[in-house]
Amino acid sequence: MKLRFVLNGESVEIEVRPDRRVVDLLREDFGLTGTKECCGSGECGGCTILVDGDCRLSCLMLAAQLHGREVVTIEGLSRNDRLHAVQEAFMEHGAVQCGFCTPGMVLAAVSLLARQPRPSREQIREGLSGNICRCTGYVKIVDAVEAAALKLANGDRR
Ligand code: FES
Ligand code: FES
Repeated sequence: MKLRFVLNGESVEIEVRPDRRVVDLLREDFGLTGTKECCGSGECGGCTILVDGDCRLSCLMLAAQLHGREVVTIEGLSRNDRLHAVQEAFMEHGAVQCGFCTPGMVLAAVSLLARQPRPSREQIREGLSGNICRCTGYVKIVDAVEAAALKLANGDRR
């Protein structure tokens, strides 16, 4: 089937088998390896992408579900060589160790802050609860999301 959608701001068209998973499409057909597959069963959040602004698990989605939608992967967050405020905050707060969970965490945080610009620490924990980190213990991740919320509130859109 022919699939058309917007990927990181650009219209794309690709011929795919109807049973192709989104995580494979992104990583193998588009070379966007920032989207990680870990559990492959909807448990860890490593494969999180944004579809029309909402978090989706790309290991559980079929490519056909992307038709006509707007998709953002971790590669689509930076603009003009400048990282998104959430990405900067993760680096500044040591919220990245092995980095495997980071793309999914960052996208989940971006989606959370779009819905809830000044979340409490509890709301941040809740918002990221679908994303598992095996390294950081979460405190630094929550610190980073709190700091990103402040950056964005002060007008740093990127
Ligand atoms: S790889 Fe998709 S949720 Fe774990
Ligand atoms: S930084 Fe390693 S899994 Fe989160």
